[in-house]
Amino acid sequence: MSSEIAAGTASATGKMSSEPVVEAVGLTKVFHDFWGRPKAKAVNGIDFTIRRGQVFGLLGPNGSGKSTTVKMLLGLLYPSRGSLKVLGDSPRRVETKRRIGYLPEESYLYRYLTAAETLDFFGSLFGLPPEERRRRCDQLLEMVGLGPSRNRQVGEFSKGMARRVGIAQALINDPDLVILDEPTSGLDPVGCREVKDLIQLLARRGKTIILCSHLLADVEDVCDEVLVMYGGRVQAKGRLDELLTIGDKTRIIAPKLDPAMVSRVLDLLNAAAGPGNVQIDQPSMGLESFFLDVVRKAQQAGNETAGARAAGRVADYLKAEGGPENLLDSLRDDLAPPAPAPQPVVPPPPAPQVNTAALAALSGNGADSAPPPAKSVAPALRPQTDTRAANEKLKSLIEK
Ligand SMILES: Nc1ncnc2c1ncn2[C@@H]1O[C@H](COP(=O)(O)OP(=O)(O)O)[C@@H](O)[C@H]1O
Ligand SMILES: [Mg+2]
Repeated sequence: MSSEIAAGTASATGKMSSEPVVEAVGLTKVFHDFWGRPKAKAVNGIDFTIRRGQVFGLLGPNGSGKSTTVKMLLGLLYPSRGSLKVLGDSPRRVETKRRIGYLPEESYLYRYLTAAETLDFFGSLFGLPPEERRRRCDQLLEMVGLGPSRNRQVGEFSKGMARRVGIAQALINDPDLVILDEPTSGLDPVGCREVKDLIQLLARRGKTIILCSHLLADVEDVCDEVLVMYGGRVQAKGRLDELLTIGDKTRIIAPKLDPAMVSRVLDLLNAAAGPGNVQIDQPSMGLESFFLDVVRKAQQAGNETAGARAAGRVADYLKAEGGPENLLDSLRDDLAPPAPAPQPVVPPPPAPQVNTAALAALSGNGADSAPPPAKSVAPALRPQTDTRAANEKLKSLIEK
């Protein structure tokens, strides 16, 4: 266990791949009524750029213009004004659409097709040959934990299982840009974690992800940049670590200290920052980490379940050679809190970092691309108070 001390100043920096995947300038969409009169300005002159390898969050309350923006990215709606380039080209071109994977908010699955037939159908829409369709379909169903249910009709599936089919369907064409609308809705916490790990793995492979979600904790876990919309306009945008950093505070995390040492440190900090400005507490692990740990222990103890099982291997065609055997296990091992080591209390150590070298090795993608660094703070390491403060800040941005 560690002690935690919060007082004044911290900063976060990062770099990203420079290749733009989406470029929107003055993007506007006005809906007209039957007589051609403007009815709703759904998107109102927004500018944003999304770069290769980014996980980009599109946020905003209902009716703020997210779906309209996504439909323009997919080439389903034509902008009224402004310019939009996707993968360097017009989103309306068939060649552009072939490189995009899309998970709609509601997956419209044909209820009488089995899971395998559903994926085969979507594979055929992309013109994949039968052998390749079969290979990808097997790997994807295994990856999303639906291998044993492959021959069941999707009409019988629970919401979470249908969501897993939708995620597999969005990846059947090995897309360069993946647009996911509420990907974790209806999933249990294990499924949520798997989807988030998958999103990060895809990004490290140089794929670009756009995530629309109301689950701010999920957005915070995986996105490196966000755009917050309201009334069709951009209210805030930028790197999440920069938007959420509380600039006038410093956090120090140290191995558990004895009361005498805490008192000495407190005296020192009180002298520097003024009495009443320093807090000391013990970080907690967060409910998600705790829950996943409990479930993993139950699985290890061999407890039976009739529910969805944990996802399996990442589809081979989605990962380069040397990728993880089991995505969840390998990422979890890598993200596990390190054993406490003696650390000086002052000056403060840097914020806990994910082992980026190990993650690059996991994705098997060190050489073929230059994706941005992995999100800096592993959820398991992030003290809960931090998440709460960050969520408050994100909420206030949205409600502004
Ligand atoms: N086809 C449409 N015709 C008329 N108005 C629409 C249409 N689609 C969306 N809108 C309006 O545009 C605004 C933005 O909607 P939308 O993009 O769906 O928001 P969000 O996805 O953020 O909830 C809303 O006011 C909505 O009523
Ligand atoms: Mg919407």
